[in-house]
Amino acid sequence: MNLGNSTLEPAMSLLTMDARAQWANVAERAVQQYGTPCYITRLQPIQKALEELELGQSGDVRSWLSFKTHPLPQLVAWWTQAGRGVEVVSEAEFATVRRLGCPVDQLLVNGVAKHSWLGHYPVSQLRVHFDSPREVDALLPLALDCEWRVGVRVHAPDEQDARDERFGGQFGMTAGEAVASLRRLREAGANVQSIHFHLGQGPQAPDAYVRAVEHVARVCDAAAFRPRFVDCGGGLPAPSFAGRALAGLRTAIRVTQARFRPELEQVWLENGRFLTDQSSILAVRVIDAKDRPESRYLICDGGRTNHALAADKGPHPILMIPERSGAPRLTTVCGPTCMTDDTLGRVQLPEDVGPGDVLLWMNAGAYHLPWETRFSQGLCAVAWCDEAEDLSLARAREQPDQWVQPWNL
Ligand SMILES: Cc1ncc(COP(=O)(O)O)c(C=O)c1O
Repeated sequence: MNLGNSTLEPAMSLLTMDARAQWANVAERAVQQYGTPCYITRLQPIQKALEELELGQSGDVRSWLSFKTHPLPQLVAWWTQAGRGVEVVSEAEFATVRRLGCPVDQLLVNGVAKHSWLGHYPVSQLRVHFDSPREVDALLPLALDCEWRVGVRVHAPDEQDARDERFGGQFGMTAGEAVASLRRLREAGANVQSIHFHLGQGPQAPDAYVRAVEHVARVCDAAAFRPRFVDCGGGLPAPSFAGRALAGLRTAIRVTQARFRPELEQVWLENGRFLTDQSSILAVRVIDAKDRPESRYLICDGGRTNHALAADKGPHPILMIPERSGAPRLTTVCGPTCMTDDTLGRVQLPEDVGPGDVLLWMNAGAYHLPWETRFSQGLCAVAWCDEAEDLSLARAREQPDQWVQPWNL
């Protein structure tokens, strides 16, 4: 487990005083109303990130919500009411988003191996991006019957396994597969409208987006295909870290427009981390403290099981309620389960933080909520904070006697 270095300074310095005060205010209210542990998502940071992403693009760029990244029904409702679309990659997401009333025109189906489930949904005019030739084979008859609006996902040259760059990863089609699939779909009479790539979650070279667009353009040329929509996927980190990558995306959008006009109607984006990473925090309460020679240990009522994999990605800023000013002491922030894995960080914290205090684990948006586990405790509360910073309970904390419910007892 990599918990990054033992100081929070670099991560903390990215938080302005205003942001700290806004989060502390919302968190105090949420903790009072819903208890701890509690995720809190604010819409305002999402709106701000969205404005930055769509800056000056006046309808030529359409942002789809990557539902899996931060699967919050309140966010879907706001997003779809604003006229934007939602992107899903699994049957459970598809069923949930449809249940939330998302119109077909605002729903985009991505993801691997969809032939294992999408064939059960004869939905007219669905938008689907095929990920493999096998999917095309299996789903083509339904795509024709239901007049699906389809495209293909191309594996981008810079796409790689975020944890091991020797491997390209399992997504999308090679250039040869994409050309053959585009030809096959069009010869069969399918309504082929779009082409898609996604750079993945590893750190990107600033020109990776442009390289991907040029690759996609070569695929389209080889298939004599002029897309109406080019979907550049996600791939940006959170706004505080996105400077060069965001500039790279802006250049790629201009290259896409120059390369694919006049047929091109819109560039599509599906940024997850950029939009939601800094929109959320996890509030946990310190319930015990142990002083040991090598470290203080703060045991909290929430921990790594609320973040699972995402807690592994380096230090997160931690705010304290109340604010403390004791001498800094190396402190291990632990969750309440029985493994040393259940650790949120080993960081310098004031030595007067103790039982009863609330710790705010910042930047707990993208890929935190979906990686939460029920290990030993059950799921925590989730609070939603709307445009006016009014709070509501999105999900109640799972009670101890509910833990057994999914089991067939
Ligand atoms: C198809 C697709 N779109 C969008 C995203 C969101 O990606 P990111 O968080 O890198 O913006 C992902 C994430 O894996 C994805 O697979």
